Amino acid sequence: SKVFLNGEIVDSNAAKISVFDRGFLFGDGIYEVMVQLENGIFYKNAHLQRMQDNLKKIGIAHDIAELDSQIPTLLHACQLEDSPCLIYLQVTRGVAARKHAFPSEAKPTAMMYALPYSLPHINQKNMKVVSMEDKRWHQCDIKSISLLGNVLANQSAMVQNTDEAILVRDGFITEGSHTNIFFVGKEKVYTHPANHHILDGITRRVVIDLCQELQIPLFEKAIKIDDIPSMDEAFLTGTTTQIASVGQIDNHVFYQSNTIGKTTKKLQEAFAKLKE
Ligand code: PDD
Repeated sequence: SKVFLNGEIVDSNAAKISVFDRGFLFGDGIYEVMVQLENGIFYKNAHLQRMQDNLKKIGIAHDIAELDSQIPTLLHACQLEDSPCLIYLQVTRGVAARKHAFPSEAKPTAMMYALPYSLPHINQKNMKVVSMEDKRWHQCDIKSISLLGNVLANQSAMVQNTDEAILVRDGFITEGSHTNIFFVGKEKVYTHPANHHILDGITRRVVIDLCQELQIPLFEKAIKIDDIPSMDEAFLTGTTTQIASVGQIDNHVFYQSNTIGKTTKKLQEAFAKLKE
């Protein structure tokens, strides 16, 4: 398949990145994941704006407009222009001798790939998730390619035969290893505020807007791990997850396999309409 690398479309086998790239040596870069659905790339501008904001946060000067303009070329080269697919974008600080501080000369490395990827109309799965300590750093708002904390958490969830790791910092649930989490209690919806302890997910923002439209009270307020038994429903959100019902967190069972909570279902249906 073809990829975009530093201004060119090249075969993925021929695409070369230096071993001195700071993305490789330091995990010094930003990434994005978007999906193309039947009606186009889902919230493309929000994803690109977040990437631009993130690059600014870490002091990489790279104009995302260049990537934006090359997406159609990439999709064409991959024969995916009219097909459901996943689009991955990454910009690193570039190639330089290994010194921690920013190099003065480096040119950012920009890469994108697209792969066939389809999502169900509504995610019918009822996830089983496991909580664990959030051992990541304190800048989780940055969509950094340094994902070791997320990788280790997700791996731990997988070996425990669960679908996602739910991270807990100082007793409060922050987010999943690659998803945001929402709770429903007494018809009210709760999710962690968009601060430095979570990634402000695009799907999260879409769901917040849907709550407003559907007149479901929404509070950006973190839930304590000890408060889970007082909640009626939980769901995960993310680009590759959309809205996924959570049936079980640790030993607490919300509902069995085929049941999905009333509010979760309502939001899933409204979300599905956005894709039509
Ligand atoms: N993950 N929180 C974390 C830590 C994430 O990595 C993601 C996305 C989200 C959800 O964000 P969004 O709704 O914008 O996709 C929340 C992507 C999909 C990934 O790493 O594959």
